[in-house]
Amino acid sequence: MDGTELNFVNNQEYKMNRLSNVVVGFIIQHPHLQLMKAIIVNFGGQYAHLIARRLREAGLYAELVWPEEALDAASKPDVVAIVLSGGPSSVLDEKAPTISREIFDLGKPVLGICFGHQLIAKLLGGEVAKGAGEYGNTKMRLLKRDEILQGFDDEEVVWMSHGDYVAKEPSGFEVLALSEKGYIAAMKSGSIYGVQFHPEVAHTPKGRILFENFVTKIVGIKPEERWNPVNEIPRLLEEIRRTVGSEDRVVIGVSGGVDSTVTAVLLVKALGERAVPIFVNHGLFRQYEAEEVLRMFQNLGIKVKYVDASEEFLKQLEGTFDCEDRRKIVGKLFVDVFTKAASEVPNAKWLAQGTLYPDVIESGAVRGADRIKSHHNVAGLPEGLKFKLLEPLRQFYKDEVRAIGKALGLPDEVVFRHPFPGPGLAVRVIGKFNREKLEIVRKASYIVEEELKKANLYDKVWQAFATVGDDTWVGVKGDARVLGYVVVVRVMQSEDAMTADWVMLERDLLSRISHRITSEIPKVTMVAYAVTPKPPSTIEPC
Ligand code: XMP
Repeated sequence: MDGTELNFVNNQEYKMNRLSNVVVGFIIQHPHLQLMKAIIVNFGGQYAHLIARRLREAGLYAELVWPEEALDAASKPDVVAIVLSGGPSSVLDEKAPTISREIFDLGKPVLGICFGHQLIAKLLGGEVAKGAGEYGNTKMRLLKRDEILQGFDDEEVVWMSHGDYVAKEPSGFEVLALSEKGYIAAMKSGSIYGVQFHPEVAHTPKGRILFENFVTKIVGIKPEERWNPVNEIPRLLEEIRRTVGSEDRVVIGVSGGVDSTVTAVLLVKALGERAVPIFVNHGLFRQYEAEEVLRMFQNLGIKVKYVDASEEFLKQLEGTFDCEDRRKIVGKLFVDVFTKAASEVPNAKWLAQGTLYPDVIESGAVRGADRIKSHHNVAGLPEGLKFKLLEPLRQFYKDEVRAIGKALGLPDEVVFRHPFPGPGLAVRVIGKFNREKLEIVRKASYIVEEELKKANLYDKVWQAFATVGDDTWVGVKGDARVLGYVVVVRVMQSEDAMTADWVMLERDLLSRISHRITSEIPKVTMVAYAVTPKPPSTIEPC
């Protein structure tokens, strides 16, 4: 059977079918998540999570599925759209991941991106060939106006990254746009769309508009149906109450970060004093952070069990060279200290964690692959503990957790606080660990953050901090020649920490940061600025 024989329902019919599902569904299912969602078939590209975020921002809840699960998932009545992600494979390769052709018979809107676009062509009888080689910003020329490209000019810049291309569209498809080299950049048949470019990345300036169009015009989500994480709060509270029951207590490790704080506030809202936040101070927090965290919980009227174990942590870390060793030390000691604190909470049967969706669903880029760093989350589930696990935020992305946090009344300093590694400043001291270098990093990072806040830049960057290693630089202080440390300042922009770029700060700001660090921390004689993106560097130094 080729593409012409497929019984594509048109958009209007499709929307009516979907609406009748909604009406029936309302009676038996939860009004939001159960009803309308998109699935993103993850072909292993690094962008599948980005696609999910763009769809959710456009008002359609979206989850990732693997190709082998795609047909089953797509057939569920609550799934109203299917997105086929990009991926590193070639559809021309026998072993490339694929999906059942039957997915296209379901009559649900499909959007194929890059590899997904080529897969549509291959499965529906078009032709795919090798050798296009379009990488980076590329001009695209519209041949035909279509709802999905509404708001696009006749010529638009889009971001491409492909070697294979659709040499001939399947019959029944029309070509909507061509790249400047003349390759098919967008095509459609009914509500099945393929785009060769990546609308999910920031380098495609109108990418968000394409997702808006797909969600509102092709899938047909109405303004009142838009998914919004804040609307999920009552359901989350209800789910926590139902899961935990009426007797048990829940412990949760808090660190002041937005994920653990939002989790703790949700738990306390749902369970009152049966939720017990435990704050272990490992001595590796940012300047004044431990005091601020305690004050914040106090202001929220939430009782926290506080354990100051900083001496024990610092003693064990003293003299270590390798950050991976430090991660293990911090992780293990955290488990010990936390376990002891939790054992003092009567009837504590549950451990809550601020796990987010990207931690639950690995992106294709890391499926089965070694992680570069053994990111130990200090609020992680201590192995061997007899707790049941509660993860109320496991379906959300960070920006959604921030929105929930704001709606719960958390202060902006917490909601918009930069991500901070579980082992804290231990991974910002390079080489031999000692308290002197720890204090240098702490003070220098504080200066970096403070200057960025003054310049109104703190909220606009992903992370900003200082690191110190064992390199020295000769300095002149007064008449004396002194040997001091080199501090490296890193200010990064990122969407998800998978890739990141350094931020070009103004000369005056860099100069102020450098001046303050060398004058307020006498042991530092040189400040350098890190200008390597990720990849090839990681964000943290070790
Ligand atoms: P890298 O350095 O791998 O970091 O580019 C990516 C993101 O993860 C954070 N990071 C950690 N988070 N435990 C954590 O909980 C860790 O050991 C750890 N190491 C790095 C880092 O701050 C960045 O946001």
